[in-house]
Amino acid sequence: MCNAYIPNNVDLTSSPSVARALTHWQSRFKEWWMERGPADFQSHEVYLRTAVSVEPNGWAHYDYVRLPEYRWGIFLSQPERNRTIGFGDMRGQPVWQEPPEEHSAALRWLIATQGDAEPASVEQQRLLGRTCPSLYDLRNLLQVNVEEARHLWGMVYLLIRHFGAEGRNNAEELLARSSGSQEQPRILDAFNVPVEDWLHFFMYTTFTDRVGKMQLLAAAESAFDPLSRTAHFMAIEEAHHLFVGETGVARVLRRTAELMRHSPNGSARELGGIELSVIQKYLNLWYSLTLDLFGSELSRKAASVFSSGVKGRPREATFEDHDGTERPYRIESWDAETRTFRYQDVPMRSAMNEVLRGLFIQDCERVVERWNRVLSEAGLSERVRLPSPRFNRRQGLLATGHFSPEGTPLTVEEWERHAAEWLPTAEDRAAVSSVQARAVMARGEMANWIAPPTRGIQGKPLDFAYVRVEA
Ligand SMILES: [Fe+2]
Ligand SMILES: [Fe+2]
Repeated sequence: MCNAYIPNNVDLTSSPSVARALTHWQSRFKEWWMERGPADFQSHEVYLRTAVSVEPNGWAHYDYVRLPEYRWGIFLSQPERNRTIGFGDMRGQPVWQEPPEEHSAALRWLIATQGDAEPASVEQQRLLGRTCPSLYDLRNLLQVNVEEARHLWGMVYLLIRHFGAEGRNNAEELLARSSGSQEQPRILDAFNVPVEDWLHFFMYTTFTDRVGKMQLLAAAESAFDPLSRTAHFMAIEEAHHLFVGETGVARVLRRTAELMRHSPNGSARELGGIELSVIQKYLNLWYSLTLDLFGSELSRKAASVFSSGVKGRPREATFEDHDGTERPYRIESWDAETRTFRYQDVPMRSAMNEVLRGLFIQDCERVVERWNRVLSEAGLSERVRLPSPRFNRRQGLLATGHFSPEGTPLTVEEWERHAAEWLPTAEDRAAVSSVQARAVMARGEMANWIAPPTRGIQGKPLDFAYVRVEA
C-alpha cells in the first residue's frame, strides 16, 4: 500500500472531491485492515485473484500479492442502455442515476446495512489462518477476506459519492463498529458471533454468504442504477465464497464418512475427524442464525422499499407479478399464549422479507441435496438435513416459541432438555478445535479431518504454493 491510487471504472479523476474523500477514508481502511483484518500472513505472498476491470477476461486477474498491497478497487458493471425500473409503483420509468430525495434515506440505510456485513465477516474470520487445513484453504480464506473488503469499498463509494455528509458519516461508521464489540457492535446479530473454527467458517460461507448473494441479487434490481451495477458485480464475486463454503462442508463430510468406515466403532472422532452429528449441529446453528438476517415476516419498510423501486426480488424478471399486489402471501406465526400457529394471508409486498427468505431456503435445499450425494457415494446411509425454519429463531413471528428441528412445538423444559442434541455444545466446539489445533502449511498436505478438494484453483495442482511460506 505504497500509494493512494484507487483502481476504478467510475472516472474518479473527474470528481476530485469524491476522490479526496475516498483517499481520506482509504487511510482509515488501511489501519482497520491491519488491526482487524486477518491476523498473521500480512507479509506472505498469496496467490489471489484481483478485479482489475469488469470485462469478462479482466475482472479475475490471478497473481501473487501481499495482502496489504491488494488493490481494492471500485467497479460497477457496465451500464445497461435505457434501463427502466422493473417492479413496484414506478415500473417502466427510467432508472435513477442519483438517489431521489424521497428515497434517499431508504437507499442509504440499505447500502449501509449491506456495507456493515462485509467488514464484519473479515473481523469474524480473522484468526482462522492459524489453524488452516492446507495452503489451498488458507488461500481461499484470504481470498474471501480481501473480496469482502472490496465489497466494503463498493458500498463506501456509493455512500461518499451519492449521499453527501450523511453518507460520509455512514462510511466512517462502517469502520468504527466492530464485530462482537459491546459498545459498537455490527448491526445484525449473526455478524457479531465469532467464527472460531473451520467448520464454522464453511457453514458461514455456505449460509451467511448466501444471504449476501440473495440481498445482492435483490439490490441488483434496484432503480438506483449505481447500486444495481455495484451489486451485480459483487454478486459475481460472491459465487466463489459460496463455492468455498459448500465444497468445504462436502470435503468434511467425505472425510468423516471415510473415517467412520475405517473406525471399528463407526466413530470419525476416534480417528481424528469430526462426528457427523457435530456437523449437523453446526449446520442447524448457522442456518437458523442466518434465517433471522432477512428481517420481519411482515414489514411496512420492506413493502415501501419494494413499491418505491429501492430493492426488488432476486431475478425480478422471472416473476409474473411485478407489483407484488396481486397474489397474497401466507405468513405463519406462533401464538405463545394459546400455543397455536396462526396463519394470515397478506399482500406480497408486505411479505417481501419472507419472499426472499423462501428463495434462500430453496437454494439451501439444493445445497443439502448435493451434500447428501457425497454421503451416499461414500456408502453411508446417514443424511444431513435443514432444520425447520421454526427452529431456533431469535427474530420474527416464530421467535416466541421453541421448536424441534422437525418444527414440533416444545415447552421451555423440553427445549432445555434437548437443545444440546441440536446445537453445538462447548464440548462439540472443543472437539472440533482439538482436531484443528495446528495449521497445515506444507505444500500438498491436508489436515486429517478434511478430504482434499477435487481440483486446485485456476487449473493449478493441489500441491501448488497457494501461499508462499518459504522465506
Ligand atoms: Fe460480500
Ligand atoms: Fe461473501
